[in-house]
Amino acid sequence: MGNNTISNPFVVGKYVSEAYFCDREQETAFLKKQVDNGRNTAIIAARRLGKSGLIQHFFAQSDIKKRYHTFYIDIYSTNTLSEFVFLLGKAIYKELKPLHSQWGERFFTAIKSLRPGFKLDSMTGEPIFDIGLGSVEQPQTSIDEIFAYLEAADKPCIVAIDEFQQIANYAEKNVEALLRTKTQQCKQTLFIFSGSRRHLMTQMFHSPSKPFYQSVITTDLKPLDKAVYTNFAIQLFKDYGKNIEPELIEKVYDEFEGVTWFMQMILNELFAITVEGQTCGFDLYEPALKNVVQTQESSYKDTLLNLSARQKSVLFAIAKERIADNVLSGKFLKDNNLGTSSSVQAALKGLLEKDVLTRTEKGYQVYDYFLAEWIRWNY
Ligand SMILES: Nc1ncnc2c1ncn2[C@@H]1O[C@H](COP(=O)(O)OP(=O)(O)OP(=O)(O)O)[C@@H](O)[C@H]1O
Ligand SMILES: [Mg+2]
Repeated sequence: MGNNTISNPFVVGKYVSEAYFCDREQETAFLKKQVDNGRNTAIIAARRLGKSGLIQHFFAQSDIKKRYHTFYIDIYSTNTLSEFVFLLGKAIYKELKPLHSQWGERFFTAIKSLRPGFKLDSMTGEPIFDIGLGSVEQPQTSIDEIFAYLEAADKPCIVAIDEFQQIANYAEKNVEALLRTKTQQCKQTLFIFSGSRRHLMTQMFHSPSKPFYQSVITTDLKPLDKAVYTNFAIQLFKDYGKNIEPELIEKVYDEFEGVTWFMQMILNELFAITVEGQTCGFDLYEPALKNVVQTQESSYKDTLLNLSARQKSVLFAIAKERIADNVLSGKFLKDNNLGTSSSVQAALKGLLEKDVLTRTEKGYQVYDYFLAEWIRWNY
């Protein structure tokens, strides 16, 4: 084992370093090209493929770190411009604090509208960003100040706004137009917008009636290459004194259609239950899947609690089918006792809005493969 710094190399949910990150070389180079040429970018891809990971990997590149200040916010759980300002302010402060630069020190004077929220640390006497949401009283003013501040930085800034489609749901109606104007006025601050709600993101950037129309380069994210991921996983097992059958990794890839989060979850567990010096084989697949699905069970129960009886029936029918391309056909309705096609249509709409189902060109699918598995086991 020697120098391995983390106990399980199949990292889930955070970015550690490129040692545990598979490929994405082309995508990283693509982002670099965009920022080096002063272009804003939007990454639109299905959930759990690795959008956030890619942005963090990109920000971790040494030449990017050297030449830019980078800031990352995930606005998935925000509903208002105030919350947006709060996250952005906090992210900027967090990045700048350790730098002790002149520009960093000016944060408190430049962003006047948030100043009442700053406190002084009683031990060190240094200002701390301890504002509550309530301190963001004039979010539009704060946005102006924050952007002006970024523009005055000693290096160009890159701001990544993850789950960007969320701004379409903000309580305030004009946020899209406001941010479009603000981002357009920036001369040395670049933006990466990313999001998984394809429909909303596409509308934002590709629809002529929308403020962000044609204002950014949009890019898609594909699943990692199968052979590349297989080699990545084999090598990580080896680095830790374990082995794995290559065909097992290929099976994992196929089961989850190359969607990164699901593969990493399973590989993480396969790694955990493989004894050092041993080879991980097919016999461990089922136990690993069971263990992983079990850890998610309580959240699946919550998901079901929030569905109507009809939505549940439709969800179960689609989970059993895996990919359902003809959900409104007489046969599908009858086989699954689903009632009328109009009521199924209404249920589908709700399930899509709740992100429980996704719709691809192949048909409807339960977006969470583990949830689908759990349903097939239990219903
Ligand atoms: N290239 C990669 N190599 C290894 N692990 C990765 C890679 N990309 C992403 N991951 C891991 O896969 C998981 C999903 O990635 P990530 O969170 O970046 O996806 P996402 O597209 O942002 O998902 P969501 O739609 O849920 O926001 C994370 O746990 C992340 O650590
Ligand atoms: Mg993400």
